[in-house]
Order: sequence, then C-alpha cells, then structure tokens
Amino acid sequence: MSAAAGDPGLVVPRSVAVIMDGNGRWAKQAGLERIRGHEKGIEAVRTTVTECAQLGVQALVLYAFSEENWQRPQREIDLLFKLLKRFLAEELPTLMQHRVRLVHSGRRERLAPDVLDLLDRTIAATAGNAGMTLSLAISYGGRQEIVDAVRALAADVQRGAMAPAAIDEAAIHARLYHPELPDPDLLIRTAGERRISNFLLWQVSYAEIHVAEVCWPEFRAEHLHAAFRDYGRRVRKFGKVT
Ligand code: IPE
Ligand code: IPE
Ligand code: MG
Repeated sequence: MSAAAGDPGLVVPRSVAVIMDGNGRWAKQAGLERIRGHEKGIEAVRTTVTECAQLGVQALVLYAFSEENWQRPQREIDLLFKLLKRFLAEELPTLMQHRVRLVHSGRRERLAPDVLDLLDRTIAATAGNAGMTLSLAISYGGRQEIVDAVRALAADVQRGAMAPAAIDEAAIHARLYHPELPDPDLLIRTAGERRISNFLLWQVSYAEIHVAEVCWPEFRAEHLHAAFRDYGRRVRKFGKVT
C-alpha cells in the first residue's frame, strides 16, 4: 500500500499532466552527459506511473518529446528515441500489472517506423486494461493539436457534415488527439521552470499548476505526494464565487 494512503491532506486528482524537465541540468550537475539525465529520468517515469495508478489517478499525460524538441541535436534525438523504445519494451509487464492503458498523443508523421511499431504494439497490448490511462505525448505540440482539430473541423464543414455556426467547444474538444481523456486537474512541471512550453494548451485551461524544484531524474513518490498535497490546498472556483 502506498505511504500516501491515509494522508488526510493528500487529494488525488482525476487527471494529472507532467512536464518532465531538467534531465540535462541534472546530468550537468553530476558531471555527466545530457543523455545520462534522460536515462536516469526513466526511473522517475516508472515511479510516477505506478504511484499514480496505485493512488487512483484516472489519466496521466507525460510530456516526453515536444514538437520543438525536433530542433535538438540529432544525436540527442536518436538517443531519446532509443530510450523510449527501451522503456516500451521493458515496462510492458509493469503496465499490465498495474492495469495501465497506454495511448499516444502527438503527430505520427515524423516518428520512425520502428518507434511507431513498438508504440502501436504496446498500445494494442494494453488496450483492454481498465485502470489508469497513460498518455505519452511524443512529437506533441499543443498548438499543432489545435491545428489538427481545426483541419478536421474544416473538412467536416466542407463535406457538409457540420455548419460553421454549429462549431462550439465540444466540437473542437471532440477532435483533439484523445477526447476521451479528462482535462488535467493538476499540471506538474519539474526543475523549477514556470512555463507551459506548448503542452496541452486547450486542456490546461483550468488546471492547477505545481512547480517542483527538483529535476526530473530526482522526482520520486514523495515529490508526487507533495504535489497532491499542494493540489489539496487549492480552491478551485472556475470563475465562480465560492
Ligand atoms: C526534459 O529534460 C526532457 C526532454 C525535454 C526530452 P531537458 O532535456 O529539457 O533538460 P534541461 O531542461 O536541459 O535541463
Ligand atoms: C518541454 O521541455 C518538453 C518536454 C518536457 C518533453 P523543454 O525543456 O523542451 O522546454 P523549454 O525549451 O524549456 O521550454
Ligand atoms: Mg528542458
């Protein structure tokens, strides 16, 4: 049982999104190459996924590779995807054990065939799991997701399936990559950085934001619990008067 169970101040959000940042800085501080930070970050991914699943989070979105990250040196990109493949291959038993359903958020176009193949196979293998949904945001951009939704809408209007006046928030939401996922209640960013970096722009409209000072490779259950305790102290008004 999790140490968090029985902690009265800890409120488990229905949906959590994480900007996993600071791998490079962690490595630099340790006198290592940037890629060692990404490697070490896998431990934090494993802990966060299993802890969220155990605590009853319904949806967890992890920002693993942004649209903008394609501008990094090719060597770093190659190593990041090598790590992703290793993660997918090694973590399947853990995902099955915790009944986690995997999905992908992002554009498929730039992903290599072997990455797509492993991603698709893991998604298929976990499709029947009824526990938490884990969305890996890879080759993901919030603006690009909105562009893709608008394109789909425009195509529906063009073929006469929808009137422009019928476009509302629900129509846009329905065309996001995973409309079945609840909007994040809590957005966590590590490494002390206070920006959104093109993550889930539509969905974070009313998310509570928690910034953890630790770099992602050091993020552990205690930091997740601290974020959930912080979340438990928030008064969510959604524009209303309480
Ligand atoms: C986050 O760590 C991982 C990815 C963006 C893929 P960074 O690589 O951004 O680490 P810093 O921000 O340079 O420390
Ligand atoms: C955001 O982190 C992307 C991911 C965590 C995958 P970055 O490190 O790329 O963001 P910036 O450049 O600091 O905004
Ligand atoms: Mg960074």
